[in-house]
Amino acid sequence: MSNQQKERQRLDALKEKLNNYAYSYYVLDQSLITDAEYDELYQELLMIEAKYPEWVTLDSPSQRVGDQLLEGFQKVKHAQTMYSLSNAFNEADIHAFIKKVEEVVGSQHSFICECKIDGLAIALTYEDGLFVRGATRGNGQTGEDITQNLRTIHSLPLRLRKPISGEFRGEAYMPKEVFLKLNEQRDEAGESPLANPRNAAAGALRQKDPAKAAKRQLNIFMYNCSSQSDIEATSQGELLEEMEAVGLRTNSFRKECHNFNEVWEFIQTVGQKRHQLPYEIDGVVIKVNAFEYQEKLGHTIKAPRWAIAYKFPAEVAQTTLLNVDWTVGRTGVVTPTAIMEAVQLAGTTVQRASLHNVDLIEKLDLHIGDQVVIHKAGDIIPEILEVDLTKRKRDDRPVAIPTECPQCHEELVKIKDEVALRCVNPNCPAQRLAQITHFVSRLAMNIDGLGEKIVEQLLDHHLIENPADLYYLKQEDLLKLDKIKEKSANNLIQAINESKDRGLDRLLFALGIRHVGAKAARLIAEEFGTIETVMIAEAEQVGQIEGIGEIISQSLVHYFQQESSLKLIDRLKKIGVKTDFQTTVIGTQQTNEFKGKTIVLTGSMNAYTRNEAKQILQNLGANVTGSVSKKTDILIAGTEAGSKLIKARDLGVTIIDESTFIEKLVESGINDAK
Ligand code: IVH
Repeated sequence: MSNQQKERQRLDALKEKLNNYAYSYYVLDQSLITDAEYDELYQELLMIEAKYPEWVTLDSPSQRVGDQLLEGFQKVKHAQTMYSLSNAFNEADIHAFIKKVEEVVGSQHSFICECKIDGLAIALTYEDGLFVRGATRGNGQTGEDITQNLRTIHSLPLRLRKPISGEFRGEAYMPKEVFLKLNEQRDEAGESPLANPRNAAAGALRQKDPAKAAKRQLNIFMYNCSSQSDIEATSQGELLEEMEAVGLRTNSFRKECHNFNEVWEFIQTVGQKRHQLPYEIDGVVIKVNAFEYQEKLGHTIKAPRWAIAYKFPAEVAQTTLLNVDWTVGRTGVVTPTAIMEAVQLAGTTVQRASLHNVDLIEKLDLHIGDQVVIHKAGDIIPEILEVDLTKRKRDDRPVAIPTECPQCHEELVKIKDEVALRCVNPNCPAQRLAQITHFVSRLAMNIDGLGEKIVEQLLDHHLIENPADLYYLKQEDLLKLDKIKEKSANNLIQAINESKDRGLDRLLFALGIRHVGAKAARLIAEEFGTIETVMIAEAEQVGQIEGIGEIISQSLVHYFQQESSLKLIDRLKKIGVKTDFQTTVIGTQQTNEFKGKTIVLTGSMNAYTRNEAKQILQNLGANVTGSVSKKTDILIAGTEAGSKLIKARDLGVTIIDESTFIEKLVESGINDAK
C-alpha cells in the first residue's frame, strides 16, 4: 500500500472514531476518552485534511463550524407536510380526544406520551446516512435551509450509524442554563434580554455566521420522520427506538400509556418534574402508538387526528411592586431589581424579579404600587411580564430612574446603543466590592471563609482597595472587623495564603476580565502558560485558540493595556501569587471524599470538561461510571443535567453541584487538577 493510501485509510478511521466519540459524549452522555486524547486524534485528522483538502467530506468533524458567512437562507420543500398539533388544556379535552380516537380504532391500542419541547421544529435530511440538509418548519410545506447552523449542534450526527435515507423531524432548543447565561451577558453588554429560550434558539438558527450559532450551544431531540424514510417501524415507540439506533437523539422521558388514567398520571409526573429538566417544555404530546391506527385516523388540514398537545397552564402570578433596588455590578452596570410582595410561583416563593435595564422599566411604564404579572424566564429567573393597569391607583408614582450611582454618587452614563446604565468611576466601592467578591469566590481563587460580608467590611475600613491587597493583610487588620476573633483571623490569613497557589487559569478568571469565564481562562492559561506571555499577547493570537472568539480576545488584550491592571499583577507577583499554569495533580490529603466511591458525571461544568473531571476523580481513586443505578454513590451534576439527575433523585443518590465538587477537591488538596 502506498503512503498516500495509508493516509487515506487513517483519515477514514479517524473520522469514524471521532464521530463515534462525539456520539457517545453528546447523545449517550458517556465519555469514552479524555479531551486530550480526542484532541490529539482531531489534530491528526486536521493535518491529513490540510495536506489533502480534496479528501474533506461533509461528515468530517472538522466541518461542524463553517467559516463562510451566509448571505440568506434558501427555501426548502419538505418531503411531506410538517403538521402542527391540536391543543388540549384540561382533562375534558383529553377525554374528548381519546373518545374520538377510540371511535375509529377501538380501545385495544396504546399512546406514546412525550414531552412537548419548547423549541423550533426542524427537519433533517439524510442521504445514505450522510446529513445533507436541515430546515426550519416554515409554513409546513416549505422551510428555510439552515444546514450550516444545524451542523454546529454536536448531538446532530453528521453521519447516521446505518446508511439510510430520510427526513427526520424534531425540535432544536436552547438549554435553560445557556439561555440564562446568555441573558446575563446581554445585560452586562447593555443589550436587551431575549424573552425565552425558544426565541433565543430561533435567533441562533437564523445567524448568518455559523460560528455565532455554535456559541449558542443548541441541542436537539428528534421525534418523527417523513413516511418515505428508510426506517422500519410499525409504531411511534418503535420509531423512537429505531431513530436512537441510527444515532439520532431522542428524549427518553416518555411513556407508553393505555388509557386516560395512565395518560393523566404521566402528565402530572411531567408537570412535577418539568422545573428540574434542563430544557423548557410547555406540555405533553399524546400520540396514538400504532402507525396502522395513525393512518386510519388521518389528518385535518392543520394537524394529525392521532395526536394532541396537552399544554400546561402558563405559570404566572400577580403581586404588588413595592420598590426597585439598583445594584452596581463588577463592570459598573447598574441593574434594577423589582422588590415585590411575596407570592408563590412555579414551586417557589418569589419576592424579587429581574428588571434587566431602564428601557424595560420604561416599556412596562412601571409605577411603585402597581399590580404586576410575573413569570419565570428559562423556568428560573422571575421577570415582570406586564402591569395590570386597571388596578393602578392615582397616587402610584413612576419608578424613578437614578441619575447617579447608588454607591459612589458619580453621574451615571448611558452609552450609545446600549440599554444599560453604567457607573464609570473606576474607584466606585460597589464595583470594587463585586470585583473582590468575585476574586475570592469558589471557582476563582476560592478563599475559604472570605465572602461578601467580610470583603465589604475590609473595604469600609480602608484595609483593601483591590484584590492584591488581600495578600498584604495582617492578623491585626482582621481583628478590627466585626465578629472576627484571633482564631478566625488566623484561619483567614491561612486561607488567603493557600490561595496563592491556584495557578494561572484560576487567576485569569478571578481578575474578572469582561467576557473571560472560567473555561476561557483555562484555555488561555493552557495556551500561554505564564501571565507574562498572556500580557503581551495580541488579540489575533488569542483569537486563534479554539473556543475563544473575538469578543473575549479583545477584552483580554484591552484589560492588560490598563495601567491599573499592570500594577495589580505586579503586586500579586511580588507577594508570591502563582502566575503560571500548572498541570500536575497535587493530592496532599491521604484520604478524600471520592476515594472508592462510584460516581456518575452529568451535564456540563464551567471549570472542567466532563473528561477532565473524570480524570481528576479517577486520580483520586473513584470509580467513574456512565449511568446512574442503585450502586451509584454520588452524582455530580453540572448544568443541563437531565434524566440522570432525575433518576438519581428518585433513587436517593447523593447529588452535588459543580461548586461543591470544586470545594471538595480543594479539601482533598487538589488546587488545579488535570
Ligand atoms: S409531533 C405531526 N412531538 O410542537 C406531529 N411535536 O405545537 C408533529 N413539538 O410543530 C409534531 N415537542 O415543533 C411533536 N414531542 C413532540 C414535540 C413536538 C415539541 C412541537 C413541534 C410542533 C409543535 C406543535
